[in-house]
Amino acid sequence: MTPGEILVDHAARSFRVYPRESRALKDLVFARRHARGSEVWALRDVSFGVQPGSAVGLVGRNGSGKTTLLRLLSGIVKPTSGRVAVGGRVGSLLELGAGFHPDMTGRENVYLNGSIHGLSRATIREKLDEIVAFAGLEDFIDLPVRTYSSGMYMRLGFAIAAHIEADVLLLDEVFAVGDEAFQRKCFGKIFEFKQQGGTIVFVSHDAASVERLCDRAVLLKDGSVMFDGPTPPARRRAGSRRARGRAEGVGWRHGAHRAGTPARA
Ligand SMILES: Nc1ncnc2c1ncn2[C@@H]1O[C@H](COP(=O)(O)OP(=O)(O)O)[C@@H](O)[C@H]1O
Ligand SMILES: [Mg+2]
Repeated sequence: MTPGEILVDHAARSFRVYPRESRALKDLVFARRHARGSEVWALRDVSFGVQPGSAVGLVGRNGSGKTTLLRLLSGIVKPTSGRVAVGGRVGSLLELGAGFHPDMTGRENVYLNGSIHGLSRATIREKLDEIVAFAGLEDFIDLPVRTYSSGMYMRLGFAIAAHIEADVLLLDEVFAVGDEAFQRKCFGKIFEFKQQGGTIVFVSHDAASVERLCDRAVLLKDGSVMFDGPTPPARRRAGSRRARGRAEGVGWRHGAHRAGTPARA
């Protein structure tokens, strides 16, 4: 794999979901029936490739499989079937606080995260001040991260992801928390990463940020790819009537979540 390249080949992922334990008599009586749980398919037969240096927006309703796909790309979760390959170093900001140890300080978590991503202690030490300054956590970096607000978690997580010299950046709803000033700063950093040739997979509910950042959008519905193609502005720039017409079919822009055109095979 070339650094920054992504390949998802007929990937599927299921989870077994168990009902919550209960002490009610009727639940005990019927417990055996539920003991094995039920299988939920978060992703079904997903295939696509990403060239190094491109930015792909991953869109779709809640529960459509976006986070699961990012977790597959980051290697946190393995596909049930199929194959997922990512070239080079992957930086990610997934669920809030994922990858942080709550009882360790912000500083210790930076070291831990950096080493997980393959950075030497010396390199992390070099970058530490910049990470802390970017996150605006100078006064809090030696406190346990369990004392952080969700905005502070997000700022530290983003700052780490942005400073580990990744080839691929995976971003899951990064603008869901944090103040507007920090969001602007994040967006600037993401653009800088893109300009330097990094690959981005960007999950967001905000169609405007997807359009600004991404050349291409992949729409998931119930774990399947329903649409894969240029984001609407790219189509509009292309100018043809056909391109315009197809752009209007991209349901996620209007929140309708219908496929505009069938997914590429
Ligand atoms: N660890 C898990 N255990 C059980 N079900 C899961 C797990 N992770 C995801 N799912 C299920 O998989 C589906 C897709 O979830 P997710 O990838 O989080 O979607 P999205 O990020 O698009 O909202 C949902 O039905 C969700 O409940
Ligand atoms: Mg999600």
